[in-house]
Amino acid sequence: MNIILLGAPGAGKGTQAAIICDHLKIPTISTGNIIRAALKSGTEMGLRAKSYMDEGKLVPDEVVIGIIQERLREDDCKDGFILDGFPRTIPQAEALDKMGVKIDKVVDIDVPDEEIINRLSGRRVCEKCSATYHVTFNPSKEEGVCDACAGTLIQRMDDHPNTVKERLQVYHDQTEPLKGYYEKQGKLSVVTGTGDIKDITRMTLQALEA
Ligand code: AP5
Ligand code: MG
Ligand code: ZN
Repeated sequence: MNIILLGAPGAGKGTQAAIICDHLKIPTISTGNIIRAALKSGTEMGLRAKSYMDEGKLVPDEVVIGIIQERLREDDCKDGFILDGFPRTIPQAEALDKMGVKIDKVVDIDVPDEEIINRLSGRRVCEKCSATYHVTFNPSKEEGVCDACAGTLIQRMDDHPNTVKERLQVYHDQTEPLKGYYEKQGKLSVVTGTGDIKDITRMTLQALEA
């Protein structure tokens, strides 16, 4: 099954994708994680993306479309995949359609803006494996250490309050219209993204089975 997770920054796309990809035994493809990894290893693409990302703006469509095109060609995607953070603009969604990539289901994880601010200010991510935690809502067993790989937990550059506001604005302007795009194709389910992480997973899996 080919799945898209939609939602505002901090809606829980990454958190849910990590659980669901385990369940369904298909890979998660997160453009955010791919770009951060490129940045860390100092590639040209990473350096080009940095200024956009740090300001909470979207990286140009042609850059992310190129990333996705390459990634979807890999062998592990042939039985399905979860897209986390792509598409984020109408032209990105159109590019997927043009590539002939068939999307089965789109789940929008719906979280109000007020809650987003709390979530992102307390988020910590593993430097090594990108696992996601929250200092209050989803803490690691040992403070500052990843449960999965013992890597160091850090705060993302773009999780500072001013950048979060910009990211939310960009989301409403450029990404939210994708809900209508996929609703027209009959693929959209909306799941309430507040409450227990396990309950949200259950509702998401239900939406995928429907
Ligand atoms: P990206 O990395 O994709 O960031 P984002 O979309 O802003 O989403 P986040 O990762 O912030 O949120 P999430 O929904 O994954 O939430 P999470 O599970 O972590 O993109 C970063 C940047 O890269 C963009 O700004 C852009 O510059 C660039 N980029 C990437 N893709 C692009 C594209 N396609 N086009 C152009 N540019 C692109 O959860 C958030 C927090 O909440 C965590 O702390 C978590 O523990 C906590 N939490 C999760 N669920 C719950 C719950 N139910 N209750 C309480 N807390 C919860
Ligand atoms: Mg994420
Ligand atoms: Zn880790």
